Amino acid sequence: MGVFPLANDGVQSDANVEGGSSTRAKSMSELWVEKHRPQSVAQIKGQAAVVQRLGTYAGNKNFPHLLFAGPPGTGKTTAAMALTKDIFGPEFRQNLLEMNASDERKLESIRTKVKQFARTQPYGGAAFKIIFLDEADALTHDAQGALRRIMEQYAETCRFILSCNYSSKIIEPIQSRCAVFRFRPLADADVAAQIQHVAELERLTLEDGAVEALTRISQGDLRKALTALQVAAALNTTVSRSLVYETSATAPPEALHQYLMACRDDGFHVARRRLREVLDQFGLAGTDFVNQLHRELYSADFLTEPAKLSLTEWMAEIDYRLVEGGGEQIQLDALTAQIVTLLK
Ligand SMILES: Nc1ncnc2c1ncn2[C@@H]1O[C@H](COP(=O)(O)OP(=O)(O)OP(=O)(O)O)[C@@H](O)[C@H]1O
Ligand SMILES: [Mg+2]
Repeated sequence: MGVFPLANDGVQSDANVEGGSSTRAKSMSELWVEKHRPQSVAQIKGQAAVVQRLGTYAGNKNFPHLLFAGPPGTGKTTAAMALTKDIFGPEFRQNLLEMNASDERKLESIRTKVKQFARTQPYGGAAFKIIFLDEADALTHDAQGALRRIMEQYAETCRFILSCNYSSKIIEPIQSRCAVFRFRPLADADVAAQIQHVAELERLTLEDGAVEALTRISQGDLRKALTALQVAAALNTTVSRSLVYETSATAPPEALHQYLMACRDDGFHVARRRLREVLDQFGLAGTDFVNQLHRELYSADFLTEPAKLSLTEWMAEIDYRLVEGGGEQIQLDALTAQIVTLLK
């Protein structure tokens, strides 16, 4: 990975004449996920099928109502804003009504805003205005029912872009009025590329293994990766693998593997102590531990298939008990006891 050369961060700032520490403080006070959000469809990482189709829309300056569905931090809000900017240019705000359905749970307030917004002609001779309703799955069933009328009423002058995590929470009639775009968790290579891009702009040094740790933590959620990077970089601009793990409440694979090996080879007391150490060192809650252990189980090639199957069953049981309010210490001990017994 090595050291990144000092890069011009593209933002027109006088960073070079300011003192180093104040520049850093300023850079840290801003959220990197916002600061480095792609401004154009072409800058979006991954999501190849989506990017290609949106690129065509941007080129034609026209599109139908859109529904973006997919897991958090994969670029839905980013894509909606980027498409708007690509179509309208710098004056895009004049033709954009942005609403968050989680804030506007009452449909009345949405209706009023849409009505007011749709009353005036699109700015700068554009063919239509864009209404972006973020987190549309927060709308109740009834509100969605009313929304479909609104979408029809204003279809002449307005295009809707809806975004949601689960398209199953959006009623069929709305889905059928939209071109549906599915956003996928980003591939490791795409997450890594964006991390390296941001690290360069923020003048960080990424040590070996840091990028891999960040992609592992992110599980395809780029917001999570960039947030973890910023949290780690706030402590040290040279970002190491261990710093990433320690600041992100995530245990590295080897710590989890060592716990499993202790269960197999050293018995209950040693394994229990090992588990405590992992919780303390990486700041994990009980459910974090169980979930991370579950994820790591499949790469633990020192365990047999039948052992993994039984362990999975037990992790699911302990996870459930913890979520239901079972005492953390006793549940984790129960897990350790089971694993020790199963691996004997
Ligand atoms: N595909 C991507 N390419 C580049 N950056 C991305 C991408 N996806 C996410 N990001 C980064 O992560 C941040 C969060 O992404 P975004 O707001 O688009 O997520 P989202 O899909 O709308 O998530 P949510 O479902 O939580 O609203 C962005 O500001 C951007 O910095
Ligand atoms: Mg969003």
